[in-house]
Amino acid sequence: MTRILRASGADSPVLREAAAILSSGGLVAFPTETVYGLGADGLNADAVAKIYAAKGRPATNPVILHVEGIASAKVLVSHWPEVAQRLAERFWPGPLTLVLPASALVPAIVRAQGPSVALRCPSHRLALALIRAVGRPLAAPSANRSQHLSPTRPEHVASSLGEVVDLILDGGPTEAGLESTILDLSRERPRILRPGPIAPADIEAIIGPVEIWEGAVRAGEAQAAPGMAERHYAPRARLELVEPGTGCLVSEGRRAYVAFGALPLLPEGVRGISLPLDAEAVGTRLYALLHDLDDEGFDRILVEQPPDGEAWMAVRDRLRRASAKGSA
Ligand code: TXA
Ligand code: MG
Repeated sequence: MTRILRASGADSPVLREAAAILSSGGLVAFPTETVYGLGADGLNADAVAKIYAAKGRPATNPVILHVEGIASAKVLVSHWPEVAQRLAERFWPGPLTLVLPASALVPAIVRAQGPSVALRCPSHRLALALIRAVGRPLAAPSANRSQHLSPTRPEHVASSLGEVVDLILDGGPTEAGLESTILDLSRERPRILRPGPIAPADIEAIIGPVEIWEGAVRAGEAQAAPGMAERHYAPRARLELVEPGTGCLVSEGRRAYVAFGALPLLPEGVRGISLPLDAEAVGTRLYALLHDLDDEGFDRILVEQPPDGEAWMAVRDRLRRASAKGSA
């Protein structure tokens, strides 16, 4: 079984060991402020190939490079526009990923052979310490098997990828709970590819109007961005979105019903879960809740449509993907 170790700080032996594993081409799962990442040396194509193998990730889906700051981001792009500078100054370290034209330093496998690279500077102190200790950008997708739920605790990583990672760094539960906001700056008009903890309005306040990729807010769109597969972030149980107040109309299997705010009357035997009417708090807890329901063996999870409004966009996006039928 893979070791799960707590690192006390930047100069702890555990962190040094993690850095040594990464430097020699191994895989280390580490906490970020959003979800746990499955890290490899981002400039070592063979090491990055191990990420794809471990996750069962299609080669067409590029990975994010995690950097320690603006200076280390700049060498990975062929052009660092002024909007990137302003956004990075405002939101880094933090849960904003910027897609930019890649420089020759970025291995093709990181980009999935495409022209651009996704960059983010995480704010978690262990993530930053690890990047610094390795001295190179870390490629890191979420540390789960492809199309499964993202991990927000070390034990989620262990149960999804246990045998294939060399070490799991334990930083406790993650804070934001949902993956970073992804903003594509490689095109004429900036476009949000994946809603996340940083809201569109926060970005617009810094750089003006941004487009929101339709696939991120509406079901049934063609896949316009790499890796934005329709079904994603999904629990094992069948998850369905229902109108608020509907109640549990399903009769088979072990059932859970999730409401935002007050629960309606539920039939006996249905587990009722009331989540707060606070998008940020729900973001923090959502994946952990779905992991727990999976672990307890629930077959059906009915979730009320989250409230409208921009604050809820990331939660709506993940729930819509988790409820999408079939696989992509
Ligand atoms: O919060 C996060 O972003 C977490 C933590 C670990 O940093 N990472 C994460 O990585 O969510 P992943 O691989 O699970 O999701 C990254 C998404 C994928 O959908 C991928 O297709 C997209 O980013 N992506 C990566 N490189 C891209 C690129 N060059 N152009 C467009 N999309 C890209
Ligand atoms: Mg992922």
